[in-house]
This record gives sequence, structure tokens and C-alpha cells, in this order.
Amino acid sequence: MCGIVGYTGSKPVKDILVGGLSRLEYRGYDSAGVAIEQDGELAVVHRKGKVSSLSHTLEHFDFTGTCGIGHTRWATHGRPSEANAHPHTSCDGRVAVVHNGIIENFAELREELVAEGHAFSSETDTEVVAHLVERALAGGKGLLEAVHEATDYLVGAYALAVVSFDEPGVIVAARKDSPLVVGLAQDGFYVASDIIAMIEATRDVVVLGDGEFARLTPTNVEFFTAAGSFEPTVTRVDWDLDVAEKGGYPDFMLKEIHEQPRVIRDTLAGRLVGGALSIDELDLTVEELNLIDRVYVIACGTSYHAGLIAKNLIEGWARIPCEVEVASEFRYRNPIITPTTLVVAVSQSGETADTLAAIRDARVKGARVFGITNVLGSPVARESDGVIYTKANKEIAVASTKSFLGQVVSLTLLALLLAQVKGKLKTNQVRFLFRELADTAEQVERILSDTSAIKEAARACVDAKSALFVGRGMGSAIACEGALKLKEISYLHAEAYPAGEMKHGPIALIDEGFPVIAVATKSPVYDKVISNLQESRARGATVVAVATEGDEEIRKYADHVIYIPKVRDAFSAITASVPLQLFARAIAVERGCDVDQPRNLAKSVTVE
Ligand code: F6R
Repeated sequence: MCGIVGYTGSKPVKDILVGGLSRLEYRGYDSAGVAIEQDGELAVVHRKGKVSSLSHTLEHFDFTGTCGIGHTRWATHGRPSEANAHPHTSCDGRVAVVHNGIIENFAELREELVAEGHAFSSETDTEVVAHLVERALAGGKGLLEAVHEATDYLVGAYALAVVSFDEPGVIVAARKDSPLVVGLAQDGFYVASDIIAMIEATRDVVVLGDGEFARLTPTNVEFFTAAGSFEPTVTRVDWDLDVAEKGGYPDFMLKEIHEQPRVIRDTLAGRLVGGALSIDELDLTVEELNLIDRVYVIACGTSYHAGLIAKNLIEGWARIPCEVEVASEFRYRNPIITPTTLVVAVSQSGETADTLAAIRDARVKGARVFGITNVLGSPVARESDGVIYTKANKEIAVASTKSFLGQVVSLTLLALLLAQVKGKLKTNQVRFLFRELADTAEQVERILSDTSAIKEAARACVDAKSALFVGRGMGSAIACEGALKLKEISYLHAEAYPAGEMKHGPIALIDEGFPVIAVATKSPVYDKVISNLQESRARGATVVAVATEGDEEIRKYADHVIYIPKVRDAFSAITASVPLQLFARAIAVERGCDVDQPRNLAKSVTVE
């Protein structure tokens, strides 16, 4: 949530900040602002709304300064407004701060600072940091020491970038539980909450760890912990610049949907070693894996749906009981965890607060925790015992598509591995399934090559007020993801139900033209789904069916049929999810919605 960018070097900083913030906008887009060192002062400009609004305002300022910080916000404390937009400054304007995260004890700190005479101008938790730094500077400390002192008072999560006109050209960065990277470029040094903000300038980055600080100057950067300076590990990022571009597509969501065949191939690459499946990153011996007798998949939102799909596979193939839980529930109950429990934490961003808290809790209780994430060095990766990185590359559209598919493929590999280790599937069976899994890349390509039926079905539903997504077995999990995608980007209310449950309540919703979107692919429960479609049709529903190529019968029960290639039921989530992503997008586009940046959402959810 929220994006930070900062730069100090030889180039004018204004355009660097605006460019970086535009790339980070997917993280939050309620308001934006910059603080730029200009003529010995800090010039601070804020705007409510998107980065484009800030950018238009900045066109009227002739800033030439070469050091500054910027922020794009997703409101947590304090409504979206100009006053609450970052950067926040101290009373005398000598300090400016941008912050991601939550300062949990900000109310007490604010009271204390107000009692000391500090005047506050926003409702945010962040502003206390500016005043704490100001207080430390007034006590004679340098900026690095002042930020250090300020963080000693903070309870909660923070990624901070701080500038002060006392130390021109200097940015101090600090991190706890909220990502921050420092970029090393030819022309200067960058700090950002995500590499994507600086991808045009450098691919050499240092991922700051918790409790670490960086002091950036135009010609140098130094790294510190409370114990003193240290030599960091520089990571080279191998992304192409085009991850940050739409590449000819009208929006990132469509581009990312089209990247999915590549994601499948990359996620599977190198996994068959000597004819057997291997996931070295698990960091568990075969003996340890063999002892696993319970699996929890914990996640939120779309990642949770990937977990629902995995449950079918883990229980079906490996015969290990598997529970899938929303992280925000898991963390507040008392799940049964033993040393032979495997907790799989799935998080695209690797930052989701509830998932992180659940990981910590599970580890305290003695579980082995395995993370599945898309972000290098993210908190989920750092705090898990082992991690699989999904190979989606940066996902910019707020609605997850390609990272969801990467999660499903990674979880499918995990299920196969557990089945192999437990001896429930023989190595040659695993190999056979692996090859079929690899074929889904080409099958998804085929789905993407002709989307006319999807668009036609979407046009038929575009004016609906509500929709039901149904399926059984694997189809029920796919329906959940289809409904979430539709509601988050088109604001059309959608619910998912196991098709067999319809007659226990939801069928009352159905009247003339009510859309029922069914996952009706060939599976062991196909006939049952057909019966549910007949019940819906009899009550006037407009039925859209995602069905298996060659199934002509289904036309009798559906108004619109979207055919997908025939795959084994275990892999149907990979193929059937893709038309539902496109269906949601097509409706959102028809309804004039911003598909990449839906209202009220942000790409990473770092608050409870
Ligand atoms: C929906 C979506 C969200 C996320 C959820 C968890 O398209 O992207 O529902 O899946 O906020 O986020 P991560 O996976 O980053 O933990």
C-alpha cells in the first residue's frame, strides 16, 4: 500500500519522482506528493487524486533541484485529502517524510509532541515521524541519527524516506516490515518501495532488511543497522523494461492476462531433475516432507482462491488433509499445529499484513512455513522457512491475473511433490502429469487467440446488477475467483456458490435475465452441474457456461458457451480461469471502469 520514491544525484529530480510515482501508482492512488530541495528549502507539493493530477500541477513549477522524495497514497489514517497526502513536514518545514506502513502508537506520540509544542497539520500517523525527526535534529543530531532516534519510538510497520534542508542532497531511508529498496545508478542513488520505480535507471538494488538504514548522497550510499555500518548484498534484477510498459495493450490487465502462457512455462522450467520433480527451495529433506501430515494454505483474496484449488490437488493426489484459510481468520484462532504441519503462505505481493501475521503465528506454534510469492526479498519470502517465487514478473494491474496463475501452477507442483514423496504417485505418473501441466501453456494460448465468445457473453451481462458464479469441485474454486475478478474491476455485485448449494438459498435471486456463470467443464461432476443449470434456466437465468471443446450438449442448457480446450480436471483451474478474467475485464471496459486501478483497492494490503 502506498508507493515511495526518492532520488539524489546529478539529474533534476522532478521528472524522476513523477515517473517513479506513476509506476508505483498501482500501490495506491488516493493522493500524491513530492518534496524537492530547491534553493536551500524544501518545496512540498501535494495533490488529492492520481499522480497525473500532481504531475499537471508540477508542470507549473520550474524545479531544478536534484534531491527529493515522493509518495502515492492509499489512505489508512486520515481520509484522502491534500492535507493528508505525503510528504509530511515538521513545524519549521526543515524535514519532509514519506512513509508506507502503519505507526500503531501514533496517537500517544502525537499527544506527547503536541504537549511539547509541535503543531500538526494532518490526520495521518506519518506526521509524527516528521516531528520526531525535527526534535532529534534540534537536539543536535545529524539526519541519520535523528531518523534512527525517531524510529526507536515507533511501534508498527514503516518504510521511510526522509530529507532535511539541514543536509542538502541527503536522503535517509529506514525500514521495518514494509519493503524498501535502494537503487545504485550511474547518475545517483534511488530509494523506492518497489524496484519498478527505478527500473529505467538501474537494475542493481539493495533490498533493505528490517532495522536497516541507508544514507544516500549524490555520490555515495552507506548502509547501517543499530550496530554500525555494513556491506550490503547487491542484487541484479533481470526484468525487462517492458514489465513497466503496456506493450501495445490498452491496459496492464489485458497485457498480464496475455503473459500467462509464459508464466506457466517459466514456473515449470527446471523442475524435472533426472526425471523426478524437485523443489529445492522448500529446504526440507525427503524424510521431513514425508512426515508432513497436515497442510494449511493461508492467504487472502485471489491468493486464497489459489489455495482452494490447491486443496483439491493436495488431498486428491497426496492424500494429506489440507485446510485453506483466509489469513485474517487463521491468525485469530487457535489452529491445530504440530511440528509435522506445513503452512503454505500464498501472497503475490509478499507484503499482506494478515498473511505475514499468520506466518509469524504459525512459526511460533512450531509449523514449517513455506511461502509462495512473486516479490523478491519480500517480507513473506524473508519470514518463511522456504519460498517458491512465482515467475509472473511484476504485476501492475491491481486485479491479480498472471500472478494467480503462477500461484496455481506452483501449488500444483507442490501437490505433485508431496504425492511423489508420500509414494501416492509413482515418479513416472508425476512425470506424465507434469507434461500435461506444461501443455496448459499452449492451451491458454489457444484461449487467448479467440476471445469473441467471451466478449459476446460479457455484452449480454453488462447491464446486470448482480451475478452468480457456480461450479462444483474444482469448478467451485474457479467460480470464486471469477466472481471476485468481476466485482473488483466492474463493481457489478457477484457471488460464487458451489452449484449444489443454489437450491438452498441463492436460487431465490434468479429471475428473468439474471446472469449465472457456470464452470461446466467435463469433470466427474459435469452431469450435476448440468442439472443446476437446468434449474437456473427454468427460472429465467441467462446462463454463461465455460465448457469443454467438443461438448455440443451444453448448448441446450446455456445461452452463451465459452469453449476451452480439454484438460484433466486437476488442471482445469488453469484454463478455465482465463476466460473468466477476460469476461470480467470485458464487462469492466463496457461499463467504463478503470480496469487497472479499481476504486478503493491497492495492490498490496499492508494493513489489517
Ligand atoms: C484480487 C487481488 C487481491 C489479492 C489480495 C492478497 O485481484 O489481487 O484479492 O489477492 O489482496 O494479496 P497478496 O496475494 O499480495 O497477499
